[in-house]
Parts: sequence; structure tokens; C-alpha cells
Amino acid sequence: MTESTYAAITGWGSCMPPAVLSNDDLSTFLDTSDEWIITRTGMKERRISHVSATELATLAARRALACADLDPADVDLIIYGGVSNEELCPNSASGVQVSLGAQNAASMDLNTACTSFCYGLAAATGMIRTGQVRNAVVIGVELISRYMDWENRNVAVLFGDGAAAVVLQATDNEEGMLASVLGCDAQARQTLRVRGFGCGYSGYGITLGDTFWDFDGQQIFKRAVLGMSRASRDVLAQSGLKAEDISLVVPHQANLRIIESVAKYAGISMERVMLTVEKYGNMSAATVPVALVEALEEGRVEPNSWLLMPAFGGGLTYCSLLVKWGSRTIPLEQTDVELPPCNESALELVNQVRARQDPYGRSRDGLLAPVFPEAQLRDGDSVV
Ligand code: UT7
Repeated sequence: MTESTYAAITGWGSCMPPAVLSNDDLSTFLDTSDEWIITRTGMKERRISHVSATELATLAARRALACADLDPADVDLIIYGGVSNEELCPNSASGVQVSLGAQNAASMDLNTACTSFCYGLAAATGMIRTGQVRNAVVIGVELISRYMDWENRNVAVLFGDGAAAVVLQATDNEEGMLASVLGCDAQARQTLRVRGFGCGYSGYGITLGDTFWDFDGQQIFKRAVLGMSRASRDVLAQSGLKAEDISLVVPHQANLRIIESVAKYAGISMERVMLTVEKYGNMSAATVPVALVEALEEGRVEPNSWLLMPAFGGGLTYCSLLVKWGSRTIPLEQTDVELPPCNESALELVNQVRARQDPYGRSRDGLLAPVFPEAQLRDGDSVV
């Protein structure tokens, strides 16, 4: 272990699919409205991908590598963070490794749902700081539209697709992720549950895209505010920093009201919070890195400034990362590789998935069971 080794963020890049699904598009097949979705969540649009999750992840990683001017052959580690995998085996990171030509990279998937990118950033930083690897690519990617429970308005309006990646490189400068608080409120793990694939469902023969979601929005909301607020308070205390030292919060974006509550408890004004929820919704693991990339592109990340990244998701995992940005906020290089053109509207893409769902006319009753009793917020729990 080299005490003085840090993990600088030297590259960043995103890959947003072009097809835009509006709230009005959702109203064509769900009993919902633009007004309800905006008021309750702050969301107006989300993206729907016409390509695979591997393609989204690879292009985001390619852009991040160009930004760092790093050869894929010099990458020692790829972490694919997210819940959207093409298959259980082989893993998705190995697919990205092949597409990138990063043949020397250890390649692993990391699934803590919406926090996967942040957990991955913490894991890769630890591996660099202990000298196991020198160059890492950490990706947050989701293709939730392919397995969304599109008939369930409680969840169908909330999520979108996307990907972004960062490059981490060993450095002697004290920068990169310098502190983290990671946790898991597992008593409530059943409040956010995707039923339909995994070994537990082999008896049903259910395939991807034919899933049902358990989703207790109010429980998740309260626990999200609690988890993100406490983790942010603790990571600041750990580092001896105060709210006023943070120049930008780059939070998970599941609901504008959650973000506002977390910022309030942290004592940070909304002017210092990066928001993408209105145009991308909740992209699970892709949310924080996409917001980070956009913050850099908009010039909102100051050289040598402190960033706070609180997130939460299925599990219910939560975290808050403290990042000291380095001196460079512009890319070294760029790639001109683009996604193939999309010839369908987002609504057409969604309707294709809907048409494939439940092809055998099964009742969803067989898959629905009561939410576990321990999922309730305990008396005395507060959000501060
Ligand atoms: O990344 C982790 C993932 N998840 C989250 O972070 C989600 C956290 N939870 C939330 O963001 C919010 O709880 C929601 C946005 C999901 C829901 O907002 P809410 O203010 O908690 O609404 P609610 O569940 O209390 O529902 C209020 C009403 C209900 O109708 P009644 O019982 O008052 O007549 C719902 O049936 O709104 C109804 N409703 C809808 N109406 C139109 C629920 N979903 C919809 C919808 N469109 N999509």
C-alpha cells in the first residue's frame, strides 16, 4: 500500500440515447398526466434507448478514455455498475472490455441498483489507493426500458435509460474521491423489487421484459431522504468539512422533492445542486455520472473544488461520496464515434416492449406477494 497514492478522475463521458419519451407519451397508455408527474417528481422527459446497454456503456467509456487521453490497452480495471445486464453470464463488463479493446483489464459487474456507480467509484478508488490497479474505468449504465413494468404507473413514469463513465488514474496529488459513507437499509429491501428474472423465478420461465415491480414509493422516499442526509452529514464530519466548503452537489435524481429535502438537511442551497431530473428522470446507476459529466460540460465544476455525491437505490443502498476535483475540467481529446441513428420514436420503442410483455397471458397474481412487514419505517425514525 502506498500511502500517498490517490485516484484522480482524469476522464469523463456520457452516452444518452436520442429518443425522448414525454409525460404526454406516457399518458397515451397510462392513467397519468403531465401535471401529476411534474408536480410529484419534477420530471418532464426521459430517454429510451434503441441500442443495447453494452453499446451505451462502451460509448460512454470510449468518450471518458478520450477525455483522459488514455489507451484502452492501459486500462487495468473496468467496473460495470448497474442493474441492466444482457445476461447473467458472461458478465457485462467483459462485453465492454471486448468492445473497447481493453484486453488487459480485470472486468467486473457491480449491482447496488441506483448507487452502483458510486459504490463502483469507491471500490475502484480503494483498489488504486492500495496499489492493485493504476487505471480504472467506472461505468454507470441502465437500460431499464427493456424490463420496466410498463402497465404500473407507480414506477413506469419515473425511469429512463442512459450511461456515463469516468476514468480514474493513480496520482500523488491529493484529489479524487477522498472520503465515502456507504450503507444499506436492508430491512426495507422489499420496497423496491423487480420480479421476473433471476434464479428465484426459473420455475416461471419468465424472460427479460416480462417483469413486475414492487414499489412502495412513500417508504422509499422517506428512507432515501434519511439515508442520503445521514450519509452526507457523516462524510462531511469524517473529513472535517462544512456544508459551505462544498461547491457542487451531484446527487442521485429520483425525485426533485427528495433532492430538495437532502439539500435542506445538508444546509446547501439549490443553486449549488446539479439537476438533470427534469430532462432524464431517474436513470438508476447512470444518474450520478451523467449529472457529473453535464456539470463539467456546463462549466459548473471548478478546478480544485469539493463535490458531494449522495445517492440511494434498491437494497435499499445509500451512500455519499466526497470528491476533490483536480485542476483540469476540460477533456484532453474527443472521439467522433456516435450511436447508430434511431429510426423510431421513444413511444414506438416502449410500445414494442409492451407488446412483448406477458406473451403467454399469465396472470400477475402468481408473482405478487405482500411486501415484508419489516419494510415499514420504524416509529421514531426521522429524516435528520
Ligand atoms: O431510485 C430509487 C427509486 N425510487 C424512488 O426514489 C421513488 C421515491 N418515491 C417517490 O418519488 C414518490 O413516492 C412517488 C413519485 C413515487 C409518488 O409520489 P407521492 O407523492 O408519494 O404519491 P403517492 O404514492 O402518495 O400517490 C398519490 C396519489 C395516489 O392516488 P390517491 O390514493 O391519492 O387517489 C396514487 O394512486 O397519486 C396516485 N398516483 C398517480 N397518479 C397519476 C400514483 N402514481 C401516479 C401516476 N400518475 N403516475
